[in-house]
Amino acid sequence: MTDIIRHLNEPTSNVDRELALRFEPKSLRTYTPTQAVLAKSAGVFHWTPEGRKLFDFSSGVLVANLGHNPSAWMEKFTRYMGWSGDPWKVSGSAYFPALPLTAYNAVTPVEVQASQRLAELLQSRPGGKRLQQVMWAASGSEAIQKALWAALARDRTRDMLIATRFGFHGKKGIAGAVTGSETDRDRDPRVRFISFPMCECLDVSLRDEPFDPWPYVQELETLKHQFGRKLTALITEPYIGGGGSYHPNKLYLQAIQTFCHDNDIVFILDEVQSNFGRTGDLFAYETYGLEPDIVVLGKGLGNGIPVAAAVGPPALFGALEYGEGSDTWSANPVCCAAVLATLDEFARGGVIEATRRSSAVIERGLVRLKELPFVAHVRGEKGGMVWGVEMRDHGGRTAADWANAVVLACYKGEGDLGIHLLGPLAKKVVRISPPLVITETESQQAMDLMYRTLGRI
Ligand SMILES: Cc1ncc(COP(=O)(O)O)c(C=O)c1O
Repeated sequence: MTDIIRHLNEPTSNVDRELALRFEPKSLRTYTPTQAVLAKSAGVFHWTPEGRKLFDFSSGVLVANLGHNPSAWMEKFTRYMGWSGDPWKVSGSAYFPALPLTAYNAVTPVEVQASQRLAELLQSRPGGKRLQQVMWAASGSEAIQKALWAALARDRTRDMLIATRFGFHGKKGIAGAVTGSETDRDRDPRVRFISFPMCECLDVSLRDEPFDPWPYVQELETLKHQFGRKLTALITEPYIGGGGSYHPNKLYLQAIQTFCHDNDIVFILDEVQSNFGRTGDLFAYETYGLEPDIVVLGKGLGNGIPVAAAVGPPALFGALEYGEGSDTWSANPVCCAAVLATLDEFARGGVIEATRRSSAVIERGLVRLKELPFVAHVRGEKGGMVWGVEMRDHGGRTAADWANAVVLACYKGEGDLGIHLLGPLAKKVVRISPPLVITETESQQAMDLMYRTLGRI
């Protein structure tokens, strides 16, 4: 039986924690020492049932890029859905003449509008010219699977995949197969891993160091020598997210992309986490100067409504036959309405500019944390809104202990104000990813609170 996490002075939250463990398996959530119970959310804040206010430094898990429940987004979302006005009398009962809540085996105008607008937006950004068709999915890992299925289907005699080591692409099926490294259990024999330049980007202070992509291209040349035309696709995240926040020199990604383009290997960029502003541009392929064959989107795409998509050229997606990319929830009108509302909000402008300003404040605050003896490194996107703070062994406690202690101390904060963080990445890295709309003043307040709180651990 798992120990129930309880916190002092949280009677209501403690009951919910107990009920969660009684009626749900613990495997449903990743471990965090806070097991925060979130009763309400608005903008960059959550509130616990006891009324404590928490800066949300996770955005869910990089989902609520526009903040939680933004009224302009919500108003557009409900308008697209048609959830307003009076119900109609149909068959003797009252029904809203709104969008259908399912569109399986049919086409809805909201879906084609969302596909067209998303594809046109992606193509209009530098490097996006191949991104012409949208293959919807209900989660990031499903969209990754569909991207890989399409790449494998274009020539069924070519069945080898390359992935960058220690990436995270999901847990399901072939998305799980390209996650992690060759030392994990039950590896899929079709997948080979290449190195990601983690040492070279261990800390923000190394950002401007010279970088040589040659050793990484050599790894690819070796695979080519071994497997030749069997190699059909390469998948990478722009930066390693779940694996501990490693943000590479752009020459690395550009070099592996060039290898792919020169050797007819489909270059798949997993932007499930980075899309919609996290790297300081709308998409990471702009930040890193890339031209992916397929880009995979998720998380912030629906600002909280579960929706994801693989976007790529018809020549690739056309290799899948009717039904090979279909399922119950993909292109559900609720998802498409959420995507349209998100596109509208980013089109209004200002979000990315505000992100870049607050980014500088947060990064300064994070680098200051290195004064503390247990903080080893800070990594992140310059001008973006995603960092990892790596702990080190210190004073008889392991880096993992320190990472958990940091998460817990931030949650407790000071009085009625705290900071909500996710459980550590790769055991010892604390993820920092507030909503993009956090203001400079809020950023400064949160970083001052974090500095004081961690100084007392
Ligand atoms: C880069 C990346 N790809 C794929 C996924 C999987 O997405 P999902 O959890 O929606 O299946 C994640 C989730 O964290 C991710 O960060």
